[in-house]
Amino acid sequence: MEQTLSIIKPDAVAKNVVGQILARFEAAGLRIATTTKMQLSQADAEAFYAVHAARPFFKDLVEFMISGPVVVTVLEGENAMAINRDLMGATNPAEAAPGTIRADFADSIDANAVHGSDSVENASNEINFFFAQREIY
Ligand code: CMP
Repeated sequence: MEQTLSIIKPDAVAKNVVGQILARFEAAGLRIATTTKMQLSQADAEAFYAVHAARPFFKDLVEFMISGPVVVTVLEGENAMAINRDLMGATNPAEAAPGTIRADFADSIDANAVHGSDSVENASNEINFFFAQREIY
């Protein structure tokens, strides 16, 4: 069974729509294998997004990701990675299809409500970044 990582970002947590977003995952047939709310440190955010370290938006991205708590979830199901990305919509909410999480809850490309792994390989790395195997059921 495929697993993928979701992060509900500080903007969506502040809007109090965590439950609505998790319900969308479940309604699409994904199972919540684990979920937890946490406050990322600057070192956490820099390490998680290390692949973007050279990008011009890196500093703003890290600053935003530590501006408040996030909800980190492992989603499980057939094609979980692709299904989650369909549910999220385009990275830039202005381009996100109607009915997607970003179209409904996001305000800008940084404050874009959710992160989701973009490949099965990255999903495995991202899950291991946050969780030990014994926490995922
Ligand atoms: P996320 O899926 O969390 O992965 C990296 C994040 O960087 C992305 O969502 C956006 O929130 C943020 N970001 C800001 N500017 C850009 C950009 N020009 N291209 C891609 N991602 C961006």
